[in-house]
Amino acid sequence: MCGIVGCTGTDKAVNFLLNGLATLEYRGYDSAGIATISPDHNLHVVKCQGRVATLRDRVKNANLVGTCGIGHTRWATHGVPSDRNAHPHTDCSGKIAVVHNGIIENYEDLRAQLKEAGHEFKSDTDSEVVAHLFEDAWNGPAKGNLIAALRNAVARLEGSWALAVVCTDEPDSVVVTRHGSPLVVASTPEGAYAASDVMPLAAITKHVIQLADDDIALLQKDGTITIYDANGDEVKDPATLDIDWDASAATLGGYPDFMSKEISEQPEAIERLLKGRLTDKGIRLDELDMSNEELAQVDRVYIIGCGTSYHVGLIARNMIQHWAKIPVDIEYASEFLYSDALVTDHTLCLIITQSGETADTFAAARRLKSMGCRIFAITNVLGSSAARESDGTIYVQAGPEVSVSSTKAYTAQMVAATLVALRLAQANGNMTLDEVKKVYCELLTVPDAIRKIFKRTWQDKQLVKKLKHAQSMLYLGRGSSSATAYEGALKMKEISYIHAEAYPAGEMKHGPIALVESGFPVVAIVPQDHVHDKTLSNIMEAKSRGGYIIAVATDGDEEVANLADHVLWVPPMSEYIIPIVSIVHLQILALYVARAKGLDVDKPRNLAKSVTVE
Ligand code: M6R
Repeated sequence: MCGIVGCTGTDKAVNFLLNGLATLEYRGYDSAGIATISPDHNLHVVKCQGRVATLRDRVKNANLVGTCGIGHTRWATHGVPSDRNAHPHTDCSGKIAVVHNGIIENYEDLRAQLKEAGHEFKSDTDSEVVAHLFEDAWNGPAKGNLIAALRNAVARLEGSWALAVVCTDEPDSVVVTRHGSPLVVASTPEGAYAASDVMPLAAITKHVIQLADDDIALLQKDGTITIYDANGDEVKDPATLDIDWDASAATLGGYPDFMSKEISEQPEAIERLLKGRLTDKGIRLDELDMSNEELAQVDRVYIIGCGTSYHVGLIARNMIQHWAKIPVDIEYASEFLYSDALVTDHTLCLIITQSGETADTFAAARRLKSMGCRIFAITNVLGSSAARESDGTIYVQAGPEVSVSSTKAYTAQMVAATLVALRLAQANGNMTLDEVKKVYCELLTVPDAIRKIFKRTWQDKQLVKKLKHAQSMLYLGRGSSSATAYEGALKMKEISYIHAEAYPAGEMKHGPIALVESGFPVVAIVPQDHVHDKTLSNIMEAKSRGGYIIAVATDGDEEVANLADHVLWVPPMSEYIIPIVSIVHLQILALYVARAKGLDVDKPRNLAKSVTVE
């Protein structure tokens, strides 16, 4: 987590740093800071606990000038969120400033060694060691060479990092590197820039350079960027990336918050993803880069993801097992890393990650790759680490997702997972072309079904009074609807801070039913599917104990209407497709409740959009 930026050459350095950090705030917003080098070659650091908006005020008062600087927005790992733990961190001389995204795992040893050698620390962070290591290298073996000093400093680090460093002895240069954490750089006629992702750069360029792990890049004021690889050889032909979306895609565009904007973008995102996916031979998924024969050989699938992306995986598992008849294992990435993975020669690994930068997911994919599995990524971010390391990638093209709470990426990822399941099923002969076409045609109706939900938001609004003061809630569903329950509960808890527990409806009687008392809110997802009647019985069990039943049900379902206290209606759809639509009600419900509580729906406490630490 954490976002970093750097620039040199531009007379709008402070603007770039502040605006860039604002676009990276989804990566963390516990504190923020910038360092610039003034024309008289002095280092000026302004940093504070809180958000970029607070930093902006402080910067106004500090009257910063300069054409070269670095910046940071933090998601705290080591050291509480505070002014003193905010980045940039400086060395003992006050000439060197460093920003860091990642975790220095051996920082305690390094800190002890550096203290022993006389360095004084001003923060509790792991990151500050880098400033002091750089200082030692700068004054010692690197002899005033930025590249050499950074190489020397990182040689002693263990963990993950993206780093940007400035030093007043080289007042017009920024030196950057990465190892496990993302970093891109860009050159323009005005200067050279670096950032954790393309968002801060989208307003100034359409082309960025992706640094590879352990590359070190020197950014100079005339816009020159020189890159050296881990062996010290100059990289003449670095990987580049074209930014194919408008910078305005990451602005509010009249919406009160990004979450409502992103919820509203779901129909178009799905339409984009589905366009041209069906040919007269079946589902077109060239990104898989596997022949029919290879796909037909797949005898096991591993699905890996975290949070919302894991919930996509739950539905993907059901679809693949049902349609393609292939056994599927699904694991939280963080759990998979430390469990026994049993793979065959023809195991396909599906990694699902909106950002493509989630450290746990990425590490799990690497592990499966080292075991010989073919890795296929479903992601939303072009050129992300997950995409780079995979054998094939389907970009869901939902556009930048800024709100920490994932919405449009979830539904788009589900559509992508459906395409993968259909492709596998057709390749191994478990589905005919006609059967595949039938599901695809139903997928095409999803955008309009979601638009119908948008016209029914009054159904969600009516619940706000009831739920605003709730302490706890239960979300229930069976089969694919249990994934909707998990995702609905996650939305509610992460933005409204109401404890929301999701459970397979049939399991409720084995424990969670003890929570139910008079007026206790129970959200039951009960579409017209093969477990409909079983779920109705579970609803009855909760109702008989006083539960206030909020059902998400198929239009016209009289049985549910008679039983539930409140119904959120969803147009009729088949079992594996309806979750893509049902969840929209639960996204909207969580949004309304959080807003009614006066909470910041886009930046919930303690969270970050991109979790780049294990
Ligand atoms: O970028 P990823 O999809 O890999 O992120 C995984 C989770 O961190 C993410 O889904 C998280 O649970 C969101 N806050 C959910 O809204």
